Amino acid sequence: MIIEPRMRGFICLTAHPQGCEQNVINQINYVKSKGAINGAKKVLVIGASTGFGLSSRVSAAFGSNAATIGVFFEKAPSPGKTASPGWYNSVAFQKQAQKAGLYAKSINGDAFSNEIKKKTIDLIKADLGQVDLVIYSLASPVRTHPTTGVMHRSVLKPIGQTFSNKTVDFHTGVVTNISIDPATEDDIANTVTVMGGEDWQMWMEQMLAAGVLSEGAMTIAYSYIGPGLTEAVYRKGTIGRAKDHLEATAFTIADKLKSINGKALVSVNKALVTQASSAIPVIPLYISLLYKIMKAKGIHEGCIEQMQRLFADRLYHGDATPTDDKGRIRVDDWEMRDDVQSEVAKLWEQATTETLPAIGDLPGYKTDFLNLFGFAVAGVDYAADTDENVSMPGLV
Ligand code: NAI
Ligand code: NA
Repeated sequence: MIIEPRMRGFICLTAHPQGCEQNVINQINYVKSKGAINGAKKVLVIGASTGFGLSSRVSAAFGSNAATIGVFFEKAPSPGKTASPGWYNSVAFQKQAQKAGLYAKSINGDAFSNEIKKKTIDLIKADLGQVDLVIYSLASPVRTHPTTGVMHRSVLKPIGQTFSNKTVDFHTGVVTNISIDPATEDDIANTVTVMGGEDWQMWMEQMLAAGVLSEGAMTIAYSYIGPGLTEAVYRKGTIGRAKDHLEATAFTIADKLKSINGKALVSVNKALVTQASSAIPVIPLYISLLYKIMKAKGIHEGCIEQMQRLFADRLYHGDATPTDDKGRIRVDDWEMRDDVQSEVAKLWEQATTETLPAIGDLPGYKTDFLNLFGFAVAGVDYAADTDENVSMPGLV
């Protein structure tokens, strides 16, 4: 069928298999163009189908010839109905890995559940024995707790006071003021339960107990800090509490991994357009200004540039991994540069519906958003009849 984007709010209801495939091929070509990385050889990526997780998987597989297992939660296609983009991305990744002679298998299910953890551990045991790198890159609005069965819902709210600031509807370019009421204690606790470190710790404890982590194995989770502009709704809001918890959990996990000389680290990444970030108020306006400035300075990166740099310049560069005073890896270093942030702050003051086309990179935002779903990708023939109902090789 002919597949077109069908937008509803922050999401697109359709996805294009060839567009997603081309995106994955572009990421693979980028990683190859940067040369080999002397990295991990057996890698588990939890949240492997989109965003930073997909780019981590591509960096490991095509930078270091790593065998990879990917875990994700995606919607399979059915006749007349497209899959979610992470499904098509993973189909493409599996195909390309197979073609390159790389081991790659994928598990589609709820990573928060005991069942999927066990399934993954069993697969590692059967096929790889052990893994030496575990990437934890989940982003989800909900988590069903495996012990209590309670479904927790995360919220994006400020803490302590109402937050009022500008935001943009990136579909229309209309800049408005929004007000978000402060979170309740329950909101905070639920958000920490969904996006904090508890599930990461469960994964690592269960893998350690099962003996599927190799001597010296490393695990990394992703965090975000961002500027003063977004602080009230991001880093000092409910999601920030979850990130505080995730970052603290790195130390707890590191302690537990001492028995295998393992490491647990957090990498703070750059603000980028992903399905997760486009749902956060204020962030799209910030990103559209940030993109404009970083592109003008020649320092703009997408997920794959970020993850390739994380692997090549931070984790596997033959020396100790540089971290900040809180033990975090920083690949948001270019985003947080003083010259970048002072210019964003200046533009923020000026941003209105009328000025944004000139001062912001809304077209770049929109293109990136469409790209997430496989649309507006160069070289893809969108007028061609395409088979939406593709199955995934290597799906366990
Ligand atoms: P994303 O939405 O692109 O990817 C989320 C991944 O998690 C997908 O593979 C999805 O299938 C998987 N997933 C979600 N729920 C699942 C479940 N129940 N079971 C199994 N898999 C599930 O998100 P993105 O942006 O790549 O986020 C990954 C991490 O990076 C998050 O911790 C996020 O906070 C962090 N981060 C994101 C930034 C951004 O600007 N997008 C900036 C810095 C950090
Ligand atoms: Na991800």
